[in-house]
Parts: sequence; structure tokens; C-alpha cells
Amino acid sequence: MKRLILSIFILLLTLGPVNADEGMWLPLIIKERIPDMQKKGFRLTAEDLYSVNQASLKDAIVHFGGGCTGELISDKGLILTNHHCGFGQIQSHSSVENDYLRDGFWAKTMEDELPNRGLSVRFLIRMEDVTKEVLSSYNSNMSEEERAKLVSEKSAAIIKRATENNHYQARVEALYYGNQYFLFVYEAFNDVRLVGAPPSSIGKFGGDTDNWMWPRHTGDFALFRIYSDKDNKPAAYSKDNRPYVPKRFFTISTNGVSEGDFTLVYGFPGRTQQYIHSDAVRYITEKSNPHKIDLRTKRLDIQREEMNKSQDVRIRYASKNASVSNAWKKWQGESRGIEKLNTINEKIEFEKGFNKWADGREEYKRVTERLGELYRNLEPYAFATDYYNEAIIANEIIRFAGTISAAIKRNSKMTPQVSAANIKNMLEAFYKDYYLPIDKRSFIAIVEQYSKSVPSHMQPAPFKEMLSQYGSVSSLADYIFSESLLASPEKIYAYIESGVDESSFNNDPAFALYDIFYSNHESNVKPVTDEINREINLLYRTYMRGQMEYRSNHSFYPDANSTLRITYGNVSGYKPSDAVYYKHLSTLEGIMEKDNPDIYDYNIPQILRDVYKSKDFGKWEVNGTVPVCFIATNHTSGGNSGSPVINADGHLIGINFDRVWEGTMSDIAFDPDVCRNISLDIRYVLFVIDKVAGASHLIEEMKLAN
Ligand code: ARG
Ligand code: GLU
Repeated sequence: MKRLILSIFILLLTLGPVNADEGMWLPLIIKERIPDMQKKGFRLTAEDLYSVNQASLKDAIVHFGGGCTGELISDKGLILTNHHCGFGQIQSHSSVENDYLRDGFWAKTMEDELPNRGLSVRFLIRMEDVTKEVLSSYNSNMSEEERAKLVSEKSAAIIKRATENNHYQARVEALYYGNQYFLFVYEAFNDVRLVGAPPSSIGKFGGDTDNWMWPRHTGDFALFRIYSDKDNKPAAYSKDNRPYVPKRFFTISTNGVSEGDFTLVYGFPGRTQQYIHSDAVRYITEKSNPHKIDLRTKRLDIQREEMNKSQDVRIRYASKNASVSNAWKKWQGESRGIEKLNTINEKIEFEKGFNKWADGREEYKRVTERLGELYRNLEPYAFATDYYNEAIIANEIIRFAGTISAAIKRNSKMTPQVSAANIKNMLEAFYKDYYLPIDKRSFIAIVEQYSKSVPSHMQPAPFKEMLSQYGSVSSLADYIFSESLLASPEKIYAYIESGVDESSFNNDPAFALYDIFYSNHESNVKPVTDEINREINLLYRTYMRGQMEYRSNHSFYPDANSTLRITYGNVSGYKPSDAVYYKHLSTLEGIMEKDNPDIYDYNIPQILRDVYKSKDFGKWEVNGTVPVCFIATNHTSGGNSGSPVINADGHLIGINFDRVWEGTMSDIAFDPDVCRNISLDIRYVLFVIDKVAGASHLIEEMKLAN
């Protein structure tokens, strides 16, 4: 009996208020987490992480290109991020003759650093809880429309105030489904240049085979530099700009990690859905994911075949292929993880408990039941939307027809010359990375599946007519890909030269097909989806508040929404399956074990083989080898790529770049047993810069601790 009581007590203790290491915390209120962080080994204060009165570590972090994170590592604006975050830029500077994807790129001097049109980074200047002000004149008799209007008016006023007399950008973001509102003020820089990138055979080592997996050996890093005007302020690209002097940059620690060490990841996770209803999880993992995976498998098979035939096609489709493959693989891990963790049933049990509690509480009484109903109503429309995106808009020529139509509409106020020049720019960008045989073969495969899987009454009638007229998707494809102007750069350029008006594309088959699907989606699918989602979101506001009351001694964190977050945990291996334990650290030995000149993903550059043979690892050697990647229990998500991974003293020990396969469901449900983030060990980064790239001048720019 005593034993039983003791073990229940221990169970209660270990369960604690939040699952160990789960959580993406807002820097402004990190103080609340500091005791727990210190228990795990952290030695700094809340002010060291986030402060508006003095430079703090947040000032050394940037939201990189909108979808990734990067960190400052020198007083000359040098930024470290992932190779896959800079992939588009590296590709854009590459050609068959100058293939930086294949060979890597290292600027010898600052003059050689390459500017990137469209790339910007932004620092968070400050954040502030503005809930009171946003909702100051709210009263419960207001309709949802009135409330939304109030929120947008108040937010606009707050943003205006925050950006008056300065060059900042600001946003007010809803947290906890609109139960809270926070202001975020940013400073953006637009002159960001490529400084260095390893060859893909290091930066993307293991490719899509190893993606989302452990053990991992990817040297996933690239270097950029922020440039500013002579007053250290943001400025458009100019060769007179100078390296930006940051308020703060990271000191690097080469002491490495041991199992159990404290780690903190500081970055911009994109989107998580921790508090959703069981039926939402069911739709995502049992219906949406399997269908989307199927469609992408078809596209990926075709891409792979064509890319293997030609180096030119391989370069053109490198970035597209990586991004199609990335979500494709993640969805598979996610569905598997949710099933293994029994999340749907656990949510159902949770909802039962919640409903019992809600019984005497009018506000919460029927919330989960109504959510269930709404999800059932939404399902066919969500399904049609998934297919619209993944089987129709996924066709490059169709999507591009839509882009051009929209541009023509937007351009209608411009002179014909300006409009034509704009469109010519878009055409150039499109054809640079386009290969018609891939697009056409994919079209046949995925439109075929669309016509089989989407209930007939939800398919546009004109499409069904076309299909019966041509007899098969394949004949329809023959017609579109031979007759559309977009299928022939020469024809479309000549056509644009001759002056374009909006109606002129009406008879083009690619434009017509886009229009058929777009109108069907806009008039038959989207309005219903929007209406149901409006009610769902409204209910989530209530349900979220209810969950917080119901579990009143649990620490809640808001779902990720691309705002700056802190997540902390410990370096830790894990047990992926029976009889297997994965250690926390991978090394150069593993790269050599995988090295195989005949397998594209595992064919390392000769220089790495040579360095390995010579055992000339310099300062970066540990126990006769070089550490490469490590895993820890930090709760991260897409967008955390490139995030600084720091130790208990705030020194940079790695760059976050991925999660392990068994833990990819952590955007929906976090399992402390198997959810691990994967980081690149900073010592491998330095080793590659020093010994492989011979760019030690960059290391001299950095600050290494002791
Ligand atoms: N899985 C990582 C992330 O979600 C890395 C993706 C890039 N790598 C790739 N092989 N596609 O972004
Ligand atoms: N690779 C992801 C990214 O680009 C980070 C990994 C994840 O999703 O956890 O943000």
C-alpha cells in the first residue's frame, strides 16, 4: 500500500503542470519559466534573454526570409542560418557553369558577397500585451462582426502609434484564439548578402532520404550578412552600404554537449495546433494527410526520374523538389505519430471530462459537441480544398496562369509598356526553373486522381465536360500543353510584345482551366468553408478559455504563430522502438559510413574524404573525430529552422534544423519520450568553414568562448 501511494506521488510529481519540455514560451513572460529552467540547468536571467532596456539575446536573432530563423555571430552583421533556408538564394545564383548548389560558395572578401533580391530579415524590437486596449470598449452584447471591427480598429491605432516617427514595422497578433492580443514591433533589413554555403553534398547531405530522421549527418548551414546604410539603419541594396553592427551577437562555445545538458532554442516557430478538437485531428491525420501524401508521391516520382536524367533539370527543380518532399515526409511521420500516441482517443477522453465539468457552465456546455458537428459539416469542403491546392494549383502551368491573370488585373491601371515589362519579369522567373515534361506528366497523374477522388458534384461542370470531350486526362493534357501560350516561351513573349489586355487570354486553355477551377472554388467551396471556419474559430476562443479554466493548474503556452518563442529542454537520446536506443550525438564517422559515390544523397565531396584520411581535424577534433549533429527535447516547429541553440550560459552550441521522424506529430501533440529536435553541432560548422572551405577568415570574425 505504502508503495502504491509512493508511486502515485512520484507519478504526480513527474507529470507536473506541463509535459516536461513541451511549450513555446513568449520571451516577454519568460520570467515565469525561469525557476523550471534553472532546475534544468540554465544559469542566466530572464533579462538576459529578453529586455527592452538593454541589449539582450533577442537582439541577436532574426526572422529570416519570413519562414526561418537566423542568428548574428559577429559585430559585422554575419548571420548563421540553415542551408535549406538559404537554398532558394543559393540556387538563384547557380547555373550549370557556376553551380553553387553542387560546389558550394565562399565569398573571399566582402565585395564578393552576393545580394539577394527579395530577401529580408527582421529583428524583434519589442513585444507588448495589448489585450486590455484592444478589447477596451468590448461588451458581451456585441455581435462577432462588431467585435472583429473593434479589434481591427484598435489594432490599427496601436500599430500606428508604434510606428510613428520611426522606421519600424508592427503587427498585433491574436494569441489563444483571440483571448489575448500582443503587439510585435520589428526592424527589417533588406540588403542581405550570401557569404558562404557548403556544397549540397554537405549542406543537404542525406537529402530527402535522411530528412526528418535520426541519426543525421547533414551540415545544414549557410552564412549571410546584413548590410545597412552609414547610420547603421536599414536601406535598400547599394554597393555603398556597410556591414550592419548589431546590438548583440552570439558568443560561440565549442565545449560541446553531453547527455542531460540544458539547451534552449530561440526562434520563430510557424504554426502549431495543440488545443484542437479530436475530430480536427482525425481529419488531418486519417484523411487529409493520406490523400496529400498520395498526390505528392506521384509528383515526386516524376521529378526524381526527370532530375536523374539531366543536371540542368536537377538544378531547376532542386528547390521545388525539396519543398514538395519535405511536407510529404512530415505528414507521414505525423499521421503515424498521432496513431501511436493514441491522440484522437485521448482527446475524446479529455473532451468527455471537459463536458462533464462544463455541465453546469452555460458558456462551455455544448462547445465540444458543436465543434464536432461543425467539423463533420466542414469535411467534404476541406477535402475539396485540399484537392484544389494539391491536385490543381499544384500544376505549375495552371498556377502560373492564375498569377498572370491576377497581375494583369492589378496592372490594368499601368501603361501597357509598364504592364508588359512586369509580366516579362514574371515570365523570366517562371521559365528559369520550369521543365515542361515534369509539369505535364504530373498534371496527368494528379488531375486523374482529382477526377477519381473528389465527389463528382464538387468538381466543376465545365471540367467534367472537357474531360468527356477529350476522353481522358492524358488527352486533355496533350491539348493544354501544346495549345497554351504558356507552354511556349517564344509564343508568349511575342504575344506580350504585341500588347495585352485582360480578355485576351480567355481562349488560352491553361488560363481557361485555371478559371474553371478557381471560379468553382471561389463560388462553391470557399464561401461554405469560410462560414464554417468562422464559427469554428469563434468556438475555439471559448473552448480555449474553457480548457484554461478546466485545467487551472496547468501552464499554457499559445500556439505558434511565427512570433518569437523560447523553448528549452535537455540533450537526450531516445528509444524509437523496442530494443533500440538512439544516442544523442552523431559524428564524422557516420558520414564516412554513409559515403557512397553511387548514391546521390550520400556522395560527399572528395575534399571531405581527404581531410578525413589525413585526420587533420584541427581544433574541432573530439575523441579522434568531429561531432556533427545532436538531439534534445526542445519543442520546435517549422520556422525554427536556423534557430540558435544555446547552452546554460547563453553561448551558441548549435543550429536547429529538424525534428526526428517519431516526433513529427509534436505540432499537434508533444510526446516527451520521442519528440526531439535535431541541431547541427557548431563545431561541425566551424570544421567545415575551416578545413573544407578554407574560409578561416570568417571564423576570425566570430567570438569563441574561452
Ligand atoms: N525537415 C526540415 C524542415 O522541415 C529540413 C527540410 C529541408 N531538407 C530537405 N531535404 N527537403 O524544414
Ligand atoms: N526544418 C524545419 C524548418 O524549416 C524545422 C524543423 C521542424 O519543423 O521542426 O523550419
